[in-house]
Amino acid sequence: MSGPLVVLVGPMGVGKSTVGQLLAERLGVGHRDTDDDIEAGQGRTIAEIFVDEGEPVFRAIEKQAVHRALTEHDGVLALGGGAILDEDTRALLGGQRVVYLSMDVEEAVKRTGLNVARPLLAVNPRKQWRELMEARRHLYEEVATAVVPTDGRTPEEVAQAALDAL
Ligand code: S3P
Repeated sequence: MSGPLVVLVGPMGVGKSTVGQLLAERLGVGHRDTDDDIEAGQGRTIAEIFVDEGEPVFRAIEKQAVHRALTEHDGVLALGGGAILDEDTRALLGGQRVVYLSMDVEEAVKRTGLNVARPLLAVNPRKQWRELMEARRHLYEEVATAVVPTDGRTPEEVAQAALDAL
């Protein structure tokens, strides 16, 4: 199988970056995060891209970054929470080992709260979260080869569960 050893998907704030780093350490491979790639490539934050250009432009930039990382990276790859909205991206994930880190809505609200750095949650986080989860849960499940629930677990425990699921 070419491409990353493992791809992490799941909602914002679920711990993809933290768990991804732990997983990479334990597997002895590199870690990459498409949000970081986008910010480095654009020289501005994701929040700034949303404000300056709107979500559709961000999604186009994200799609390119995700496709590039899927070809270039062979370690652990964490994707931004909305990357799976794109049909071509979901198709590309078809041949990959994909771990979906899941959490329930109340846990999501508790972990992220009102979050200005995350443009999709800047107003009424509980309502936004419900809508986001309803729209996306089935997409995460569609691409996942394993589902690891994170509620009530530490990042170390989640990383171990993800390792066990590989
Ligand atoms: C988004 C998730 C964020 C980031 C952007 C949009 C989303 O990534 O890409 O704010 O649509 O869920 P994280 O999941 O890494 O926070």
